[in-house]
Amino acid sequence: MYTSDENIATLDRTFVWHPCTQMKDHEVLPPLEIVRAEGVYLYTADGRRLIDAISSWWVNLLGHTHPRLTAALSDQAATLEHVIFAGFTHAPGARLAAALCRAFPGGAAKCFFADCGSAAVEVALKMSFQFWQQTGHPRKTRFATITGAYHGETIGALSAGAIPLYRDIFKPLLLDTLVVQGPTCFRCPYGLSRNTCSAECFEHMQRALQQHADQLAAVCIEPLVQCANGMNMYSPHYLTKLAQACHAFHVHLIADEIAVGFGRTGRLFACEHVNVRPDFMCLSKGLTGGYMPGAVVLIRDQSVFDAFYGEYVEFKAFYHSHSYTGNPMACRLALEVLNTLHHEILPNLQTPITAMSRVLAHLATLPHVGETRQCGMIGAIELVADRPSRQPYPPAARIGWHVYREALRRGALLRPLGDVIYFLPPLTITPAQLEELGAIAAEAIVSVTGS
Ligand SMILES: Cc1ncc(COP(=O)(O)O)c(C=O)c1O
Repeated sequence: MYTSDENIATLDRTFVWHPCTQMKDHEVLPPLEIVRAEGVYLYTADGRRLIDAISSWWVNLLGHTHPRLTAALSDQAATLEHVIFAGFTHAPGARLAAALCRAFPGGAAKCFFADCGSAAVEVALKMSFQFWQQTGHPRKTRFATITGAYHGETIGALSAGAIPLYRDIFKPLLLDTLVVQGPTCFRCPYGLSRNTCSAECFEHMQRALQQHADQLAAVCIEPLVQCANGMNMYSPHYLTKLAQACHAFHVHLIADEIAVGFGRTGRLFACEHVNVRPDFMCLSKGLTGGYMPGAVVLIRDQSVFDAFYGEYVEFKAFYHSHSYTGNPMACRLALEVLNTLHHEILPNLQTPITAMSRVLAHLATLPHVGETRQCGMIGAIELVADRPSRQPYPPAARIGWHVYREALRRGALLRPLGDVIYFLPPLTITPAQLEELGAIAAEAIVSVTGS
């Protein structure tokens, strides 16, 4: 047990192992204790206020402790907090499934619930695989992905990703995924620009599909922005070409909108920008507003569902369940988030998008900023040692981490991805708050890069 007068920092240091963290770093930068949050702000135990520029790992969509979400959650918790979702249903779950299927570009047939992003990816992979097995294509047992992809960290989801830092040590455990060269727009080998190119780099995927389609169940992709890969933004033409090729080669397209969905790119779904209708769409993170875990997979075609439908003794149902599948509180939150997005946020999103463009334009003038890039409400600042040659800093310099420290001192949570500093704030952030964030980022970058 613990007693309430025990020091939180001591308890943490003694007992907690934090995620995605080299714990030795805590010797010089112990974890900050957050005692409350409101809107875009986090409040520390020592009385400071931080702008949550990264929506606490991209989950907080509408600001912290949003009154309507808090009320909906508390009402749902007092009414029906959870019930097994096999053999039972409930209003928040059925309503959410309907709302999401209807919001899916052109409509989706079914919604399958999971409980976190990685689990949603696992569902999509397994569903795609089982579909082909049950429809006379036993050779379709592999998945394709692109370099820099991130789809989560459970073994299946990790297999669908391709970031060496997360993946390499586990290679002997992973599925035999086909990793195809993807877009690398900041250092484009074709010398082109993502804003004007025709996604010439798609040639790698075209070739891979030509050669391996008969073995491939699905291609998994993060539409428009590979968030974990340093907010790598690529030409929308890539997505269009991929959707067309997947269709032509009879390979499923899994759109992982876990990070980019729910308004982050300026539209409800990133796929909407190019009218792409993936076979499977994974959603999580902002889905539940950052209050609690929740995830879904939307299945476009009824024919996928039909391939699992039959007599019990055929044993072709989708035998996959997570204990918290369809949790009513998560569903109720997601309904509230969806309503708020539709009625309040999306119609007014151009104002913060334009404000973010202004902030990024200023940051782009700093000598060690190699590039700033933006997709809707996602902004990134790539720091380089040498701007003309785009030469990166040596990893040991940990420039991004030092900027993170400096920004914390100045009032912003700007957790970097390597040397990429990024903004992925709650969509409710105001232009004034974005200006404040930009000023903190600029000061932190200048103090670390020396110019
Ligand atoms: C694109 C994408 N897919 C999947 C995941 C995994 O989600 P979770 O961390 O909820 O398992 C993430 C998490 O960052 C993500 O960005």
